[in-house]
Amino acid sequence: MLKNKQIRNIAIVGTGAIGASWAALYLARGFNVTATDPATNAEANLRKFIDAAWKDLTVIGLSPNASREHLQFTTDMKKALADADLVQENGPERQDFKIKLFADMDAATPEDSIIASSSSGLTMSVMQSACRHPERCVIGHPFNPPHVIPLVEIVAGEKTSPRTVEQAISFYASIGKKPIHVRKEVVGHVANRLQAALYREIVYLIEQGVLDVTDADAAVCWGPGLRWGVMGPSLLFHLGGGQGGIQHFMEHLSGPLATWSKDLGKLTEFSPEVKQTIIEGVQNEAGDRSIDELERERDAMLLELLATRSKGEKEAQAAMSRGAKQPVSA
Ligand SMILES: NC(=O)c1ccc[n+]([C@@H]2O[C@H](COP(=O)([O-])OP(=O)(O)OC[C@H]3O[C@@H](n4cnc5c(N)ncnc54)[C@H](O)[C@@H]3O)[C@@H](O)[C@H]2O)c1
Repeated sequence: MLKNKQIRNIAIVGTGAIGASWAALYLARGFNVTATDPATNAEANLRKFIDAAWKDLTVIGLSPNASREHLQFTTDMKKALADADLVQENGPERQDFKIKLFADMDAATPEDSIIASSSSGLTMSVMQSACRHPERCVIGHPFNPPHVIPLVEIVAGEKTSPRTVEQAISFYASIGKKPIHVRKEVVGHVANRLQAALYREIVYLIEQGVLDVTDADAAVCWGPGLRWGVMGPSLLFHLGGGQGGIQHFMEHLSGPLATWSKDLGKLTEFSPEVKQTIIEGVQNEAGDRSIDELERERDAMLLELLATRSKGEKEAQAAMSRGAKQPVSA
């Protein structure tokens, strides 16, 4: 039976794009981190990533005991997992590989520790299938990059205990992440499905010549995207209903919304033509800015947005605890 174990030591299995970002976050939150990855130069690449991410993590705010010195690296996975209170797995996204990796991690990790997977597309029911202690295995799927973007999707497999789900949710929340409980296993979990749903329509509108790529991006980020960073679509529709709120919205605007939904494009695959149109459109939109410059631009704005968002959330909580009828928005 899984106890409510205090988490001090975290093992990172796989230190590619996602594992390195998790490692940086956990160090910034004051944990001891032991990372493992068999690739040549993995340790050097990991340390380089953490050094680069540390500036942003300092802006977000370091926890007491945060230190890059608390990172250890070993290519011996058994050693990395021996004292782990929580394992964050970020290996290659291949089903057979993950089933074997989970069986090996399960054998090497203390029985009362959680093993969380970052997998974007595989289900925990499949990955835990060869484990002796599958009840402590759970999906903890981040949104890239995990050291900046708060969302984590928690999904149980058939054999995951409800206790593990509760513990994973409370652990991620305790370090400032925003965990959501995905209550059923679905392909791609949830956030990627939402992205796919919107992008399907964007591709359709570009294909139909309704929009070019730059205007399609503007339509998202200067309109709904700005609002979605502050409140979710359902709460926003509550405001869309005016003083009548969501009740009025559902009575008067759910009909038009359903009509638009019926007209949405049905994408089954990306045609070579639309792929080329998007590639050229993005090159045009990016202009002279390199990938590194665009990343810096994105991250600088994201950090500002996160700071505003967390200030707004504190104000909303204070307003709610004062018994105000309406929380203050960010
Ligand atoms: N890239 C994304 O945007 C993203 C977002 C969320 C979740 N994910 C998920 O995170 C996981 C990792 O994705 P990534 O993009 O970081 O991939 P990646 O290819 O950048 O990293 C995978 C790492 O695993 C290492 N590895 C291979 N065999 C290993 C082993 N036996 N033990 C330990 N490490 C091993 C590789 O050397 C590599 O460094 C995947 O499951 C993916 O679905 C990716």
